[in-house]
Amino acid sequence: VDEKAVAKERIKRLLKEKDAVLVAHYYTDPEIQALAEETGGCVADSLEMARFGNDHPAQTLVVAGVRFMGETAKTLTPNKTVLMPTLEATCSLDLGCPADQFTEFCDAHPDHTVVVYANTSAAVKARADWVVTSSIALEIVEHLDSEGHQIIWGPDRHLGSYIAKQTGADMLMWQGACIVHDEFKAKALFDLKAQNPHAAVLVHPESPESVVAIADAVGSTSQLIKASQEMDNDMFIVATDKGIFYKMEQLSPNKTFIEAPTGGNGATCRSCAHCPWMAMNGLAAIENSLISSDRTDHEVHVDPELAKQAMLPLNRMLDFAA
Ligand code: 13P
Ligand code: SF4
Repeated sequence: VDEKAVAKERIKRLLKEKDAVLVAHYYTDPEIQALAEETGGCVADSLEMARFGNDHPAQTLVVAGVRFMGETAKTLTPNKTVLMPTLEATCSLDLGCPADQFTEFCDAHPDHTVVVYANTSAAVKARADWVVTSSIALEIVEHLDSEGHQIIWGPDRHLGSYIAKQTGADMLMWQGACIVHDEFKAKALFDLKAQNPHAAVLVHPESPESVVAIADAVGSTSQLIKASQEMDNDMFIVATDKGIFYKMEQLSPNKTFIEAPTGGNGATCRSCAHCPWMAMNGLAAIENSLISSDRTDHEVHVDPELAKQAMLPLNRMLDFAA
């Protein structure tokens, strides 16, 4: 018996019974992304996940991703039940930006406009003027800069530096980093590209500046997927979480995708760049979230007062992106 296929069938039945829809990020494991597709849910970047959960009529959202994605869904749709395969799935950017310290940082610069990355807690978003994801950050900062705003940016310092460089905006930076993207190595990537001169390099801007400098295309997960479809190259070296290979290979079956090196020795491996928290979203955890009568480990709650404040900068982003 194919245990996984049986588990998938059980989840499909449960989703229907509970009026629930599965919303998965591109970094979850391929079988989770496939399940979301097969069941009428979505596989998306963090901006599209927020929009999909907001617009979908299902009463329950099962968010397969990391904690901030579940919190964003709950903040935007407080009347829906938001479940996660595990509430333990966090993010190093969220962990590295505690709300009290971030608030102090903002309070010290009251004349600045606060722009925070979606990879933060609801409490940090509640302190922000704008929330951005990597697919809309550049446009929003460009817009704020054109209006003469000085900006506080948090928490990802690499994404922040990339945006500051592209836009010339005046940005005070919180010093957070993603533990996955921070591991990509420029020298090894440079060597790998030299060995494969026809390959194009795709880089997520949470990677170090030296890695971004080698890129042929820089962007959010959805933007990198689009680039992999649109660029003529038959090979791509990809500097982001390996979960993205599922969609890239599905959309361009005749192209070759290889991982950017995360070690200094130029070795590539299919398991190097994978977010340990995204990896927690397995089939068993999804099934548990739907059957468990005690939802303590699964149901996302956001303090209603915080949610009210966090909703403003989140909706500002969604309206800007519309
Ligand atoms: P995207 O917004 O590009 O989906 O990225 C989310 C994320 O966590 C990247 O590490
Ligand atoms: Fe956070 Fe990095 Fe994981 Fe994305 S890949 S969820 S930024 S730790």
